[in-house]
Amino acid sequence: MRLAVTGATGFVGGAVCRAATAAGWEVTAFGRRAAADGRHLGGAAYRPWDIGAAKLADPPDVDAVVHCAASATGTGVADEVWRTNLLGTHHVLASFPDCRIVHVSSAGVYDPFRPTVRAKEHEGPVSRYLDAYAAAKAAAERLVLAVGDRPVVLRPHAVYGPGDTTLLPRLLENVRAGRLPVPGTGRVLVSMTAVDALARACLLAATGTAAGVFNIADSEPVPIGWALRGLLASAGVPARPLYVPAALVTPVARVFPRGRVNRYVISQFAMERTLDITAAIDRLGYEPEPTTFPPRRLKV
Ligand SMILES: NC(=O)c1ccc[n+]([C@@H]2O[C@H](COP(=O)([O-])OP(=O)(O)OC[C@H]3O[C@@H](n4cnc5c(N)ncnc54)[C@H](OP(=O)(O)O)[C@@H]3O)[C@@H](O)[C@H]2O)c1
Repeated sequence: MRLAVTGATGFVGGAVCRAATAAGWEVTAFGRRAAADGRHLGGAAYRPWDIGAAKLADPPDVDAVVHCAASATGTGVADEVWRTNLLGTHHVLASFPDCRIVHVSSAGVYDPFRPTVRAKEHEGPVSRYLDAYAAAKAAAERLVLAVGDRPVVLRPHAVYGPGDTTLLPRLLENVRAGRLPVPGTGRVLVSMTAVDALARACLLAATGTAAGVFNIADSEPVPIGWALRGLLASAGVPARPLYVPAALVTPVARVFPRGRVNRYVISQFAMERTLDITAAIDRLGYEPEPTTFPPRRLKV
C-alpha cells in the first residue's frame, strides 16, 4: 500500500504515518515546515508542501491520501484558516485526482448552538458556525464529497494522546494557581477520540471500500469533568477544574467575544458533545476502545 499523508508533522498526521509505516506501507509524508523529525514520521520519506499555495507539481504515485493538514488551533487568523483548510483541500484533491481521499474533518461541523447528542453523520454540516475553523472544515467536507474519488470523511472529536498539539496545551494555558476555569458543571457528556484510534480509522478508511462520512470516537462518551481531570493528571499537572455556571459567563462572552471564555468555549464545555459511531463500526470495521488517560509526555 502506497500512502500520502498531509499534515504529517502534526499530532494526527504523525500518528497516521507511524501506524502506516509500522504496517509496512510505503508512506510519503507532507508538512509545511522545511524538514521533519524522522521518528515523528515513523521513518516515512518527507516532503515540504504549503497546501494553501498551489497543487503539487510532481505528486508521488499513491493508492490513497490521508489529508490531515489544517490550520487546526481554532484561534488562527480567519484568512489563514480558509486558505489552508478550504483552498488547501482543493489543492490536495487536484494533486491526487485518481486515488482514494481520506479527509480528516472534525465534529466541529455539528451545530455549535445546540447540544450534539449521539449525533449521526447526516446532522452536519449546518449553515452557521461560531468560528472560521468550523465553517472552513464544513466547506472542505462538502468539497471533498463533491469531487473526491471514493472519498471518506472522518469526524473525530477532542483528540487526545501523545504529542497533543491542541487540546491539552490549550487547557494548560488556562491553568491558574492550580485551577482550570471551565464553563458549565463538568457533568455533560463528551465523546473523546484517542489519537491512535483515529490513526487506525484512517488506515481502515484508506484500504476499505466504504465511502462517505464517519464519526470517530472512543467506545462510550464520558463526563467532561472526568476527562478534564484525566487529561490534567496524565500531563502531571496538579490542577483541578473550577466550574463557572454558563449563565454567568455567557453575558461576559457576548461583551468580550474574543476573550478566553468565548461562545465557542462555552459551547464546547457546557453542552453535550457526543457522537454516534455505529457507521464507522459497521462500515469501516472500526473497533473503538474506552477512553483512558495513561501518563504521557507533552510534545516539546
Ligand atoms: N486535535 C484535535 O483535537 C482535532 C479534533 C478534530 C479534528 N481535528 C483535525 O485533525 C487534523 C489534524 O489536526 P492536528 O491536531 O494534528 O493539528 P496540528 O498538530 O496543528 O497539525 C497540523 C498540520 O497541518 C500542517 N499545516 C498547517 N498549515 C499548512 C499549510 N498551509 N500547508 C501544509 N501543511 C499545513 C502542519 O504543518 P507544519 O507543522 O509543518 O506547519 C501540521 O503538520 C486537522 O484536520 C484537524 O482539523 C483535530
